[in-house]
Amino acid sequence: MTVIEVNHLVCSFHEKTALEDISFEVDEGEIFGFLGPSGAGKTTTINILTGQLPPKSGTALVLGKASSKLVADDMVNLGIMSDTVGFYEKMSLYQNLAFFARFHKVPMEHLEALLRRLDLWESRKTRAEKLSTGMRQRMFLIRAILHEPKIVFLDEPTSGLDPVMSQKVHELLLELKESGMTIFLTTHDMQEATRLCDKLALLHRAPWAYL
Ligand SMILES: Nc1ncnc2c1ncn2[C@@H]1O[C@H](COP(=O)(O)OP(=O)(O)O)[C@@H](O)[C@H]1O
Ligand SMILES: [Mg+2]
Repeated sequence: MTVIEVNHLVCSFHEKTALEDISFEVDEGEIFGFLGPSGAGKTTTINILTGQLPPKSGTALVLGKASSKLVADDMVNLGIMSDTVGFYEKMSLYQNLAFFARFHKVPMEHLEALLRRLDLWESRKTRAEKLSTGMRQRMFLIRAILHEPKIVFLDEPTSGLDPVMSQKVHELLLELKESGMTIFLTTHDMQEATRLCDKLALLHRAPWAYL
């Protein structure tokens, strides 16, 4: 079953074209790798697919619905890990995630297991604003997958992580895929993409780079 369908998508900021005529499909339960250099439009694509940004033209269907029409009930089926997702700086790492877990009625044992798995349990009482980039990155990852959404969007999930931690994240993502979750993953790491992904799409170059 196709869970994401993008056809002739175009997005621009003022005069500048950020995405030019992008089309692809993602099937249920696959890890879809969306690759491209910095500035190619990966985050912009995630923002469109998650309803945070309207496309200029073209269509983006997520779970059969135009992404610009997604409502709160649809968002329960999605998980998003990106810089655009906020957090409570003054709350601890644990409080941030527990808040989210309660909202989605996720058992606290499940949260604890994920925190232990990604080596965050010992730091759970650290205030979020004091977390290192890599720790914050893992906090965002846990938040994106905690409620076991149908589709999770991961924007460069292993950037800023050391190889050992990246490996743990990779193993977790492969397990999530086995459980049936669809994973939309952006990366600029070709090795990561070939190791994890069932299907790859490559944003070759930013459109204006041809000018
Ligand atoms: N809100 C915005 N306003 C203006 N330009 C933007 C905005 N968001 C992204 N862009 C531009 O669109 C292009 C694609 O950005 P982005 O999707 O963040 O690329 P990537 O995630 O692949 O690095 C970049 O040139 C970026 O500067
Ligand atoms: Mg980006």
